[in-house]
Amino acid sequence: MPDPLVIDNRKDSLFQVDREVFTSQEVFERERELLFGPSWLYVGHESEIPERNDFRTRDVGGRSIIFNRDRRGEVRVLLNTCLHRGASVCRHPAGKAKIFTCFYHGWAYRNSGELVNVPSAEDYAASPADVYGGLHTPRIESYRGFWFVNFSGDAPDLRSWLGTATYLLDLAVDQSEDGIEVLTGTHNYELHANWKLLVENSVDGYHAKSVHHTYFEMMMELGQTPPMLGDADTNGVPPAGLGTEFDNGHATLIYPGNGLPLANENVVRNLAELREKAVQRCGESYATAVFDLARNSIFFPNFVLIDLNFGMILRTIMPVAPDRTEVTSWHIAPRGLDGESLQYRIDNALTFWGPAGLATPDDVEALEQAQRGFSARKELRWSDISKGMGKTRPAANDELQMRAWWRQWNALMTGERLPREVDEFVPFDTRAPQGA
Ligand code: FES
Ligand SMILES: [Fe+2]
Repeated sequence: MPDPLVIDNRKDSLFQVDREVFTSQEVFERERELLFGPSWLYVGHESEIPERNDFRTRDVGGRSIIFNRDRRGEVRVLLNTCLHRGASVCRHPAGKAKIFTCFYHGWAYRNSGELVNVPSAEDYAASPADVYGGLHTPRIESYRGFWFVNFSGDAPDLRSWLGTATYLLDLAVDQSEDGIEVLTGTHNYELHANWKLLVENSVDGYHAKSVHHTYFEMMMELGQTPPMLGDADTNGVPPAGLGTEFDNGHATLIYPGNGLPLANENVVRNLAELREKAVQRCGESYATAVFDLARNSIFFPNFVLIDLNFGMILRTIMPVAPDRTEVTSWHIAPRGLDGESLQYRIDNALTFWGPAGLATPDDVEALEQAQRGFSARKELRWSDISKGMGKTRPAANDELQMRAWWRQWNALMTGERLPREVDEFVPFDTRAPQGA
């Protein structure tokens, strides 16, 4: 690998990333080991498996896994690979099962992982159940209904890993006293581009006006005010918004102007009711952060939460090759919204973030173009991520949040730890009952 991969020049406020990291097979393989090994990786939300014996299968950290609730109601993550010779023990995306039976030779496992049946077991001198036990169950932990997995033996606990960035999850969950739920339906799509380009794009406030101008023009023609055009601070967040960074590479951009474009009065009223209840539970400052500020957040390495009043999405970004990425996106909503408000959010999820919506295909096109451009990396070695560097408080359309992520990437990949740029910013009175 070339050295250095990341240049963090504080004197000239210049931050550059070697384009080789978007194309190299060696980097791709090292990332799987050095990034996806020690990091906590988002698996799923508890509302996706509400009852005993519910399961979902998905890929996390390059492994096929089963995310399920066993017969006692306990949440599990099982590696979806048979102890016999590796076939998947569950081939369905979702369902209910007490037993998973491998379709190859029929070994059967309880939904807590134990191997309970081996056809023609009498032919084995040593019982496979005694030799192998059960399906591998990696370490899992949850924070307020969000479940994460860790494939390394010596990671810190999830809460320490998330650190202050837990408030980003709190601000989503606290929109309702009953928390949030994942709505039915999942968006899956693929990019012919490196996964880190979508990480950057997910917290890129700079591209909004250029790439998404069609959407903004449409909104303005319909009489809406796009975000970040106000003139007052909201809980210390200026109209232009701000980026902030946390330990371990988590980062966010926060901005005022969290509107409800094209919402009818019932939808507006329903949200105002939720806000009023949040004021009662958590106080005005916290409720203002929850409802009057929007957030695009990245939890290192590949879990995104976009939290707007008009809709919230979770996204995981999975590298499958240096130039191929699989994206999974779930729409989430506060519990207790009325049917009309829910429909409003679902409509937005399709029109804005859907695979054929007004935002996602444009982003994909931009990222695939960038990937094509990297074929000239010998002539043009560096990508530039310097915007807003050196400011005391970079704005939402600066690139602090990306630099924070890249510094953690650099630390895990090369061992070089680069100091943070700004202090963590908390957009509410910290005496508020966070997580109430
Ligand atoms: S690979 Fe599963 S039973 Fe043979
Ligand atoms: Fe975008």
